[in-house]
Amino acid sequence: MKVIIRNNSAEASVWAARHIADRIREKAARTSEPFILGLCTGSTPIETYAELIRMVKAGEVSFKNVISFNMDEYVGLPKAHPESYWSFMHKYLFDHIDEPAENIHILNGNAPDLDAECAAYEEAIAATGGFDLFLGGIGEDGHIAFNEPFSSLNSRTRVVTLTEDTRIVNSRFFDNDMNQVPRQALSVGVATVTGSKEVVILAFGPKKARAIRDAVEGPVSHYCTVSALQLHPDGIIVCDEAAVGEIKLNSYKYFKAVEEAEKL
Ligand code: PGA
Repeated sequence: MKVIIRNNSAEASVWAARHIADRIREKAARTSEPFILGLCTGSTPIETYAELIRMVKAGEVSFKNVISFNMDEYVGLPKAHPESYWSFMHKYLFDHIDEPAENIHILNGNAPDLDAECAAYEEAIAATGGFDLFLGGIGEDGHIAFNEPFSSLNSRTRVVTLTEDTRIVNSRFFDNDMNQVPRQALSVGVATVTGSKEVVILAFGPKKARAIRDAVEGPVSHYCTVSALQLHPDGIIVCDEAAVGEIKLNSYKYFKAVEEAEKL
Protein backbone atom coordinates (compact mmCIF):
# COMPACT_ATOMS: atom_id res chain seq x y z
CA MET A 1 0.00 0.00 0.00
CA LYS A 2 1.15 3.51 -0.77
CA VAL A 3 -0.07 6.59 1.04
CA ILE A 4 0.27 9.83 -0.90
CA ILE A 5 0.11 12.87 1.37
CA ARG A 6 -0.54 16.37 0.10
CA ASN A 7 -0.91 19.64 2.00
CA ASN A 8 -4.62 19.96 1.28
CA SER A 9 -7.49 18.31 -0.55
CA ALA A 10 -7.03 20.51 -3.64
CA GLU A 11 -3.47 19.29 -4.18
CA ALA A 12 -4.40 15.70 -3.36
CA SER A 13 -7.31 15.83 -5.80
CA VAL A 14 -5.14 17.12 -8.62
CA TRP A 15 -2.70 14.28 -7.92
CA ALA A 16 -5.53 11.73 -8.06
CA ALA A 17 -7.09 13.14 -11.23
CA ARG A 18 -3.78 13.23 -13.04
CA HIS A 19 -3.01 9.69 -11.91
CA ILE A 20 -6.33 8.47 -13.32
CA ALA A 21 -5.77 10.39 -16.56
CA ASP A 22 -2.25 8.92 -16.86
CA ARG A 23 -3.65 5.40 -16.48
CA ILE A 24 -6.35 6.04 -19.11
CA ARG A 25 -3.77 7.40 -21.55
CA GLU A 26 -1.28 4.59 -20.85
CA LYS A 27 -3.88 1.94 -21.66
CA ALA A 28 -5.06 3.81 -24.76
CA ALA A 29 -1.47 3.93 -26.00
CA ARG A 30 -1.09 0.16 -25.91
CA THR A 31 -4.54 -1.21 -26.78
CA SER A 32 -7.93 -0.24 -28.19
CA GLU A 33 -9.62 -2.08 -25.29
CA PRO A 34 -11.72 0.21 -23.09
CA PHE A 35 -10.50 1.44 -19.73
CA ILE A 36 -12.70 0.04 -16.97
CA LEU A 37 -13.10 2.55 -14.15
CA GLY A 38 -14.85 2.27 -10.80
CA LEU A 39 -16.22 5.55 -9.47
CA CYS A 40 -17.51 6.87 -6.17
CA THR A 41 -19.73 9.65 -4.88
CA GLY A 42 -19.57 11.83 -1.76
CA SER A 43 -17.97 15.18 -0.97
CA THR A 44 -14.47 13.80 -1.31
CA PRO A 45 -14.17 13.12 -5.07
CA ILE A 46 -15.73 16.41 -6.20
CA GLU A 47 -12.41 18.22 -6.66
CA THR A 48 -10.92 15.20 -8.42
CA TYR A 49 -13.85 15.19 -10.82
CA ALA A 50 -13.43 18.95 -11.36
CA GLU A 51 -9.81 18.41 -12.37
CA LEU A 52 -10.76 15.53 -14.68
CA ILE A 53 -13.41 17.77 -16.30
CA ARG A 54 -10.79 20.48 -16.78
CA MET A 55 -8.44 17.94 -18.38
CA VAL A 56 -11.15 16.63 -20.73
CA LYS A 57 -12.08 20.16 -21.78
CA ALA A 58 -8.41 21.00 -22.34
CA GLY A 59 -8.03 17.89 -24.53
CA GLU A 60 -5.56 16.31 -22.09
CA VAL A 61 -7.58 13.11 -21.63
CA SER A 62 -10.68 11.54 -23.15
CA PHE A 63 -13.33 9.29 -21.61
CA LYS A 64 -14.64 8.15 -25.03
CA ASN A 65 -13.18 4.70 -24.44
CA VAL A 66 -13.83 4.55 -20.71
CA ILE A 67 -16.51 2.26 -19.27
CA SER A 68 -17.45 3.19 -15.72
CA PHE A 69 -19.31 1.47 -12.92
CA ASN A 70 -20.34 3.39 -9.82
CA MET A 71 -19.90 1.73 -6.50
CA ASP A 72 -23.30 2.26 -4.92
CA GLU A 73 -26.78 3.73 -4.98
CA TYR A 74 -29.52 4.25 -2.41
CA VAL A 75 -32.51 1.90 -2.48
CA GLY A 76 -35.87 3.50 -3.17
CA LEU A 77 -34.67 7.03 -3.89
CA PRO A 78 -36.05 8.19 -7.26
CA LYS A 79 -33.30 8.39 -9.90
CA ALA A 80 -34.05 12.09 -10.46
CA HIS A 81 -33.84 12.91 -6.72
CA PRO A 82 -31.03 15.46 -6.28
CA GLU A 83 -29.30 13.18 -3.76
CA SER A 84 -29.43 10.01 -5.85
CA TYR A 85 -25.98 8.96 -6.89
CA TRP A 86 -27.23 8.97 -10.48
CA SER A 87 -27.94 12.71 -10.11
CA PHE A 88 -24.67 13.33 -8.28
CA MET A 89 -22.54 11.67 -10.93
CA HIS A 90 -24.20 13.52 -13.79
CA LYS A 91 -23.95 16.85 -11.99
CA TYR A 92 -20.31 16.52 -10.96
CA LEU A 93 -18.84 14.48 -13.81
CA PHE A 94 -20.81 12.84 -16.60
CA ASP A 95 -22.58 15.97 -17.89
CA HIS A 96 -19.19 17.60 -18.48
CA ILE A 97 -17.04 14.87 -20.03
CA ASP A 98 -17.10 12.85 -23.23
CA GLU A 99 -17.92 9.43 -21.75
CA PRO A 100 -20.68 7.89 -23.92
CA ALA A 101 -23.95 7.47 -22.00
CA GLU A 102 -24.03 3.75 -22.81
CA ASN A 103 -20.68 3.30 -21.04
CA ILE A 104 -22.04 4.64 -17.74
CA HIS A 105 -23.25 2.05 -15.23
CA ILE A 106 -24.98 2.95 -11.98
CA LEU A 107 -26.86 0.44 -9.87
CA ASN A 108 -30.64 0.86 -10.05
CA GLY A 109 -31.91 1.19 -6.49
CA ASN A 110 -35.48 1.04 -7.79
CA ALA A 111 -35.12 -2.24 -9.69
CA PRO A 112 -38.07 -4.61 -9.12
CA ASP A 113 -35.68 -7.39 -8.14
CA LEU A 114 -32.75 -5.87 -6.26
CA ASP A 115 -30.85 -9.15 -5.92
CA ALA A 116 -31.09 -9.72 -9.67
CA GLU A 117 -29.92 -6.14 -10.26
CA CYS A 118 -26.82 -6.79 -8.14
CA ALA A 119 -26.07 -10.12 -9.81
CA ALA A 120 -26.41 -8.53 -13.25
CA TYR A 121 -24.03 -5.74 -12.18
CA GLU A 122 -21.34 -8.23 -11.19
CA GLU A 123 -21.87 -10.06 -14.50
CA ALA A 124 -21.57 -6.81 -16.45
CA ILE A 125 -18.32 -5.97 -14.64
CA ALA A 126 -16.95 -9.48 -15.27
CA ALA A 127 -17.91 -9.25 -18.96
CA THR A 128 -15.59 -6.25 -19.36
CA GLY A 129 -12.64 -8.24 -18.05
CA GLY A 130 -12.59 -6.36 -14.74
CA PHE A 131 -11.60 -2.98 -13.41
CA ASP A 132 -8.37 -1.26 -14.38
CA LEU A 133 -8.75 1.26 -11.58
CA PHE A 134 -11.29 1.74 -8.83
CA LEU A 135 -11.59 5.19 -7.25
CA GLY A 136 -13.15 5.18 -3.81
CA GLY A 137 -13.68 7.23 -0.71
CA ILE A 138 -13.66 6.09 2.89
CA GLY A 139 -16.37 6.49 5.49
CA GLU A 140 -15.71 7.80 8.98
CA ASP A 141 -16.35 4.22 10.09
CA GLY A 142 -13.80 2.89 7.59
CA HIS A 143 -16.32 1.72 5.05
CA ILE A 144 -15.40 1.34 1.41
CA ALA A 145 -18.42 1.80 -0.82
CA PHE A 146 -21.32 0.98 1.51
CA ASN A 147 -19.47 -1.97 3.02
CA GLU A 148 -20.11 -1.06 6.61
CA PRO A 149 -18.13 -2.52 9.53
CA PHE A 150 -18.44 -6.32 9.66
CA SER A 151 -19.21 -6.67 5.96
CA SER A 152 -17.41 -9.69 4.59
CA LEU A 153 -14.12 -8.81 2.98
CA ASN A 154 -15.16 -11.32 0.28
CA SER A 155 -18.45 -9.55 -0.37
CA ARG A 156 -19.79 -8.83 -3.84
CA THR A 157 -22.50 -6.48 -5.09
CA ARG A 158 -25.60 -6.82 -2.94
CA VAL A 159 -28.30 -5.06 -0.94
CA VAL A 160 -26.83 -3.54 2.23
CA THR A 161 -28.31 -1.92 5.32
CA LEU A 162 -26.75 1.39 6.24
CA THR A 163 -25.54 1.90 9.78
CA GLU A 164 -27.01 4.63 11.92
CA ASP A 165 -23.58 6.33 11.83
CA THR A 166 -23.61 6.51 8.05
CA ARG A 167 -27.19 7.74 7.94
CA ILE A 168 -26.34 10.48 10.44
CA VAL A 169 -23.24 11.48 8.45
CA ASN A 170 -25.20 11.51 5.17
CA SER A 171 -28.16 13.40 6.66
CA ARG A 172 -26.27 16.59 5.80
CA PHE A 173 -27.49 16.03 2.24
CA PHE A 174 -31.08 15.42 3.40
CA ASP A 175 -32.01 18.59 5.35
CA ASN A 176 -30.04 17.21 8.34
CA ASP A 177 -32.90 14.76 8.86
CA MET A 178 -31.64 11.18 9.09
CA ASN A 179 -35.18 9.90 8.63
CA GLN A 180 -34.97 11.06 5.03
CA VAL A 181 -31.79 9.06 4.43
CA PRO A 182 -32.63 5.70 2.86
CA ARG A 183 -32.04 2.71 5.13
CA GLN A 184 -30.70 0.49 2.41
CA ALA A 185 -28.43 0.75 -0.57
CA LEU A 186 -27.02 -1.39 -3.33
CA SER A 187 -23.27 -1.57 -3.07
CA VAL A 188 -20.41 -3.30 -4.77
CA GLY A 189 -18.66 -5.61 -2.34
CA VAL A 190 -15.22 -5.28 -0.81
CA ALA A 191 -14.01 -8.01 -3.17
CA THR A 192 -15.52 -6.20 -6.16
CA VAL A 193 -13.30 -3.22 -5.33
CA THR A 194 -10.18 -5.16 -4.42
CA GLY A 195 -10.61 -7.23 -7.61
CA SER A 196 -9.57 -4.12 -9.53
CA LYS A 197 -6.02 -4.05 -10.89
CA GLU A 198 -5.47 -0.80 -9.01
CA VAL A 199 -7.42 0.86 -6.20
CA VAL A 200 -7.14 4.57 -5.39
CA ILE A 201 -8.83 5.74 -2.19
CA LEU A 202 -9.29 9.42 -1.32
CA ALA A 203 -9.49 10.61 2.29
CA PHE A 204 -9.58 14.24 3.33
CA GLY A 205 -10.11 16.02 6.60
CA PRO A 206 -9.74 15.20 10.29
CA LYS A 207 -12.97 13.19 10.40
CA LYS A 208 -11.27 10.50 8.32
CA ALA A 209 -8.13 10.34 10.50
CA ARG A 210 -9.27 7.45 12.70
CA ALA A 211 -10.40 5.38 9.73
CA ILE A 212 -7.11 6.04 7.96
CA ARG A 213 -5.17 4.97 11.04
CA ASP A 214 -7.19 1.75 11.23
CA ALA A 215 -6.84 1.13 7.48
CA VAL A 216 -3.10 1.74 7.35
CA GLU A 217 -1.81 0.55 10.71
CA GLY A 218 -4.55 -1.69 12.04
CA PRO A 219 -5.06 -5.34 11.17
CA VAL A 220 -6.88 -6.44 8.04
CA SER A 221 -10.33 -6.62 9.54
CA HIS A 222 -13.98 -6.50 8.64
CA TYR A 223 -14.19 -3.87 11.40
CA CYS A 224 -12.61 -1.39 8.95
CA THR A 225 -13.46 -2.75 5.52
CA VAL A 226 -11.05 -0.49 3.66
CA SER A 227 -8.23 -2.29 5.54
CA ALA A 228 -8.70 -5.03 2.90
CA LEU A 229 -6.52 -2.79 0.75
CA GLN A 230 -3.52 -4.04 2.74
CA LEU A 231 -3.79 -7.31 0.78
CA HIS A 232 -3.96 -5.55 -2.57
CA PRO A 233 -0.80 -5.42 -4.69
CA ASP A 234 -1.57 -1.96 -6.04
CA GLY A 235 -3.48 0.08 -3.50
CA ILE A 236 -2.98 3.81 -3.02
CA ILE A 237 -4.57 6.04 -0.40
CA VAL A 238 -4.43 9.73 -1.27
CA CYS A 239 -4.76 11.96 1.80
CA ASP A 240 -4.48 15.52 2.91
CA GLU A 241 -2.45 16.29 6.04
CA ALA A 242 -5.54 16.25 8.27
CA ALA A 243 -6.54 12.72 7.26
CA VAL A 244 -3.15 11.32 8.32
CA GLY A 245 -3.28 13.14 11.64
CA GLU A 246 -3.63 9.94 13.66
CA ILE A 247 -1.02 7.70 12.02
CA LYS A 248 2.31 7.23 13.78
CA LEU A 249 5.02 9.77 13.02
CA ASN A 250 7.22 6.95 11.77
CA SER A 251 4.51 5.76 9.37
CA TYR A 252 4.09 9.32 8.11
CA LYS A 253 7.82 9.66 7.54
CA TYR A 254 7.94 6.29 5.78
CA PHE A 255 5.24 7.21 3.28
CA LYS A 256 6.83 10.60 2.63
CA ALA A 257 10.24 8.96 2.09
CA VAL A 258 8.82 6.40 -0.34
CA GLU A 259 7.14 9.16 -2.27
CA GLU A 260 10.34 11.16 -2.41
CA ALA A 261 12.33 8.11 -3.52
CA GLU A 262 9.84 7.22 -6.22
CA LYS A 263 9.02 10.84 -7.11
CA LEU A 264 5.31 10.03 -7.35
P1 PGA B 1 -17.65 11.59 1.79
O1 PGA B 1 -18.12 10.08 1.84
O2 PGA B 1 -16.75 11.71 0.59
O3 PGA B 1 -18.90 12.40 1.61
O4 PGA B 1 -16.94 11.87 3.05
C1 PGA B 1 -17.20 9.07 1.67
C2 PGA B 1 -17.78 7.73 1.99
O5 PGA B 1 -18.73 7.64 2.79
O6 PGA B 1 -17.29 6.73 1.45
